[in-house]
Amino acid sequence: MGHRSFIVTGTSKGIGLQLAQLLLEQGDRVYGISRGTDEFLHGHDLYKHFQYDLSDLMGIESLVTRILEMVPLQETEFIGLINNAAMLEPLKPIDQCSIEEISKNLNISLGAPMILSSSFIRQTKHLSARRKIVNLTSGSGSYPAPSMAAYCTSKAGINMFSACVAMEQSERTNPVEVMAFDPGMVDTELQAVARGKCTDEFALSGLFNQVYEAGQLRSPREVAKQLIERIEESSDANKVIHSLES
Ligand SMILES: NC(=O)c1ccc[n+]([C@@H]2O[C@H](COP(=O)([O-])OP(=O)(O)OC[C@H]3O[C@@H](n4cnc5c(N)ncnc54)[C@H](OP(=O)(O)O)[C@@H]3O)[C@@H](O)[C@H]2O)c1
Repeated sequence: MGHRSFIVTGTSKGIGLQLAQLLLEQGDRVYGISRGTDEFLHGHDLYKHFQYDLSDLMGIESLVTRILEMVPLQETEFIGLINNAAMLEPLKPIDQCSIEEISKNLNISLGAPMILSSSFIRQTKHLSARRKIVNLTSGSGSYPAPSMAAYCTSKAGINMFSACVAMEQSERTNPVEVMAFDPGMVDTELQAVARGKCTDEFALSGLFNQVYEAGQLRSPREVAKQLIERIEESSDANKVIHSLES
């Protein structure tokens, strides 16, 4: 039987770590990318870690080449790219954000997924394997919020990008399926960052604290499980999937 291989960004913690763990448990190969090391996945036979800062957009094409060189392509019947890594900050009004903060957010949360997708589609086009890109999005991509302009804009971009690429691919032979997945509010470090801000700077931090204290955050493992189930479905291409509505 053929193998499944997944390139997953942001496997050092949160949703990405749970995704990697669940995929590995079911016998899939995972090629993980994050700035940190692979302390939780280290030593797993089917896991390979790539320590890389995704704000460095220029190195992504050769990163994808290096990863694909390690994938046993002849035996691979399914190859996926899960664009999970993102940056929430800066959480302040746009006139208080530095150029560096704005460009870092856009690079990590929008530029890197776009370039990874571009490289992935180009570098796998000779394969007959089923190919799929999953982009992690957020309600923030549809609902504007003060002090969240960079994150909201990146996620709105992710939604539009996913829809455009799905449209491009629909005309191709062996099209790459593209899906955007909104996990809802999940108990990860990203939420802790939002809760930890003082309300003077980030007025919504009170709301993030309320959701946490009311026990309304989803577990990253449950979210990862749901996402993996949706990956199987080919009918989900060209759609933003809101996890809480499905
Ligand atoms: N948590 C929520 O409530 C929520 C809600 C809606 C959408 N989402 C989306 O779900 C996805 C995962 O979020 P999460 O909550 O699991 O976030 P998280 O706990 O903050 O984890 C983010 C992951 O991205 C990696 N990452 C961040 N910057 C990076 C960089 N420059 N280069 C490489 N990797 C980088 C981190 O690894 P390193 O630090 O090791 O680099 C980490 O593994 C994101 O796209 C997020 O927008 C989350």
